[in-house]
Amino acid sequence: MAKRIEFSVTGGPDVLNYVDFTPREPAEHEVLVANKAIGINYIDTYVRSGLYPPPSLPSGLGTEAAGVVEKVGAGVTHIHVGDRVVYAQSALGAYSEYHCVPADNVAKLPNAISFEQAAASFLKGLTVYYLLHMTYKVRPGETIVFHAAAGGVGRIACQWAKALGIKLIATVGSAEKAEQAKRDGAWAVINYRTENIAERVVALTNGEKVNVVYDSVGKSTWLASLDCLKPHGLMISFGNSSGAVTGVDLGILNQKGGLFVTRPSLGNYITTKQLLQHAANELFSMIASGAISVNVPSEQQFPLKDAVRAHKTLESRATSGSCLLIP
Ligand SMILES: NC(=O)c1ccc[n+]([C@@H]2O[C@H](COP(=O)([O-])OP(=O)(O)OC[C@H]3O[C@@H](n4cnc5c(N)ncnc54)[C@H](OP(=O)(O)O)[C@@H]3O)[C@@H](O)[C@H]2O)c1
Repeated sequence: MAKRIEFSVTGGPDVLNYVDFTPREPAEHEVLVANKAIGINYIDTYVRSGLYPPPSLPSGLGTEAAGVVEKVGAGVTHIHVGDRVVYAQSALGAYSEYHCVPADNVAKLPNAISFEQAAASFLKGLTVYYLLHMTYKVRPGETIVFHAAAGGVGRIACQWAKALGIKLIATVGSAEKAEQAKRDGAWAVINYRTENIAERVVALTNGEKVNVVYDSVGKSTWLASLDCLKPHGLMISFGNSSGAVTGVDLGILNQKGGLFVTRPSLGNYITTKQLLQHAANELFSMIASGAISVNVPSEQQFPLKDAVRAHKTLESRATSGSCLLIP
């Protein structure tokens, strides 16, 4: 018997239950991982709440963890029992002591990266990689806007942008988070609870505005984000932390200057084992060199059985950087 988090109805954090289960054998091309640290991602709250309904109920939750390979299925040749690995794109069920994952979706961990660092950074770091390098190729010296920049994805984005010589204008929800974003290398910071985002971006760029906005906040920042863009600028809407953007009248893109909009996800970009390996290597070398710090404070590391408390804390906007579940 092992333990995992399961839910039988969608809803608030309290639907999550800590239950006994028997891990299944890995199927062909799968590995069974004994999780040592599990990544909590905001998308997990969308699945739990029903915004992104799970394929079936009862369901497991989570897609990211780091751990040790316990068993390998038939046909797996590049991963072995005992390997230290991390994954971010599993089927739902990573909030668990054990999880079966397609072997092509796991990356071997360099010795320099701990399980906690890996689980804190893999999904979020791969996301920052594709956002800065693939969705829009940001050039050194270019100014960009990145919302919720003291969150899990946001802290990695600030540090990665700094390492690439990008001038990142961070938005955050408190004075403490503003300080965090500055420490992480943001070029400028806007507290969007007290300041007007577009007015500040216009002022910071001497009226020029920016070519690209990275917006994971969604509903509450959508219009302000469009107002930060130069003509023909690109709005990258990649999350719904404040609620989903719905009912958009496309005419607004014309009114605001012939803008472009995209709604990407990790699964659209990191589509092969080769791409995963390349992006993982870039991320691991950023962490190993010290350019990106992903250490998680103890108050944001929750025992697996406390997933309810972890989700409540994440949704309260009290956290900065990544949160973990520890089996
Ligand atoms: N499309 C993709 O490929 C992809 C991949 C990974 C993550 N994401 C998205 O990126 C975002 C960040 O993910 P994360 O896991 O790193 O979470 P996170 O940023 O650590 O947490 C979400 C943050 O959003 C901000 N926020 C603004 N309005 C909010 C509201 N009404 N309620 C709650 N939070 C609000 C809060 O920061 P402030 O207090 O500073 O406002 C909060 O800390 C999420 O929207 C997630 O869905 C997308």
